[in-house]
Amino acid sequence: MEKAVRWEVQWTPREEAQLLLHHGLVLGVYSSEKADGAAQFTSAGDAFDRLVSGKLRALLSLCGPPLKKGKTRIFHGLHQDFPSVVVVGLGKKNAGINEQENWNEGKENIRTAVAVGCRQIQDLEIPCVEVDPCGDAQAAAEGAVLGLHEYNELKQKKKPVVTPQLHGSAESQAWQKGVTYAEGQNLARYLMEAPANYITPIKFAEHIEQKLRTFSNVKVHIRPESWITTQEMGAFLSVAKGSAEPPIFLEIHYLGSANKDDSPLVFVGKGVTFDSGGISLKPSSGMDAMRADMGGAATVCSAIVTAAALNLPLNIIGLAPLCENMPSGKANKPGDVVRAKNGKTIQVDNTDAEGRLLLADALCYAHNFNARAIVNAATLTGAMDVALGSAATGVFTNSSWLWTHLYEASILTGDRVWRMPLFEHYTKQVTDCPLADVSNIGKYSRAGGACTAAAFLKEFVTASHWAHLDIAGVMSNKDEVPYLRKGMAGRPTRTLVEFAARLSQDTHSAK
Ligand code: BES
Ligand code: ZN
Ligand code: ZN
Repeated sequence: MEKAVRWEVQWTPREEAQLLLHHGLVLGVYSSEKADGAAQFTSAGDAFDRLVSGKLRALLSLCGPPLKKGKTRIFHGLHQDFPSVVVVGLGKKNAGINEQENWNEGKENIRTAVAVGCRQIQDLEIPCVEVDPCGDAQAAAEGAVLGLHEYNELKQKKKPVVTPQLHGSAESQAWQKGVTYAEGQNLARYLMEAPANYITPIKFAEHIEQKLRTFSNVKVHIRPESWITTQEMGAFLSVAKGSAEPPIFLEIHYLGSANKDDSPLVFVGKGVTFDSGGISLKPSSGMDAMRADMGGAATVCSAIVTAAALNLPLNIIGLAPLCENMPSGKANKPGDVVRAKNGKTIQVDNTDAEGRLLLADALCYAHNFNARAIVNAATLTGAMDVALGSAATGVFTNSSWLWTHLYEASILTGDRVWRMPLFEHYTKQVTDCPLADVSNIGKYSRAGGACTAAAFLKEFVTASHWAHLDIAGVMSNKDEVPYLRKGMAGRPTRTLVEFAARLSQDTHSAK
């Protein structure tokens, strides 16, 4: 895939070793639209080529056919300030919004190219990389910061740390914005990837509290079990009591609006720090992935940390019920009936459908804040993964206004959403229940599993602008998103941030 070319320069091996300690440079190149196949540089690429008297262009054409999207060539010794230069294919120059794909292809191409280029610099163990903004410094920064991230915490041997910097001085604001968005997603990835014995409910809450400590307009409440009991959150407590690890209800208030009394956006996230399934125990193979079953809490809390860092002018409340789902003598048993905060009774027909029990109570509580909108995120159903895989987050919403904002945000971020139904058809399948008002599984068990789960949540919502994001399918990445390494994905944090940013601009919210 890559080809190293050495320009005949006069460095001694020692000089060369020293130079490698200097900066790397990643430059984008568009796929050629000209018949002669000549490289189409970005403006940074053009400038660098001039600096080295056209040698870059000459070498590129010597090396073979034009670079395809995401493919690279490395050149050593072209310029003393940049001993290693990675040139990476950006695809078509005029790529923009792709109506079929529902994303901005130009931005996606930049994220991918920059991620690939930065990883090559990391493989060379060069500690600092300057990045071509490629005409969109935010997308370039996202590619660099997302592409380099890896969960290294618990290994003695770590990958070398590489710090990406903007090449040139224009667009530094957009670059910084991209860094902040990507760091937000990386925070969610970190929390999701970390083992469940490291990120327990209390550790999760303390980690988020620590990230928010520097902001004077943020208040964090770490509510203990006694508070949860006073709130009569019987559904949440019924799950938590199966574990020796005490539950936490994390509540974050970010007051970014000029008016502290402005109706907030309320985010709610499922925070199951480990989901064994409980008495309806999951198969052991792959169960370790359930350390990321707090992905809803991780993405919404990380989105709030990011909103605070960007100083977005709106108020946001974050709610995260955090607990483990474990089998024990105190655990929920199939057929048990529990009572949620709004008084509705729930028959727990399958203890592995625990996320909706936590969310039922958290959604009831979310109605205390006169919210502009309530948006919850949850790794809720395996059925969501079956339906869409990792292509997009499924969005179930009673509000087209809310849908439009989420959808438009996702086109920009490339972390897509897809609308799913909230038909009465599914409601009937969860409310037809022998012992209680509602069952925690649909009566036709597997059929439409993501939709019956959403219909269950709807029973605990009276707000007219609510969206449920089922993020089970996008929880982890194998190789589908090229700018994320394998592992927990932290999706769709950037879409949530972009959505909040858009909401802060929308002064005439639907009520
Ligand atoms: N946390 C799981 C859903 C999940 C599965 C997330 C795979 C990510 C990847 C959830 O608590 C669960 O177990 N749901 C059950 C529901 C069923 C019992 C109705 C499921 O999807 O099988
Ligand atoms: Zn479960
Ligand atoms: Zn779960």
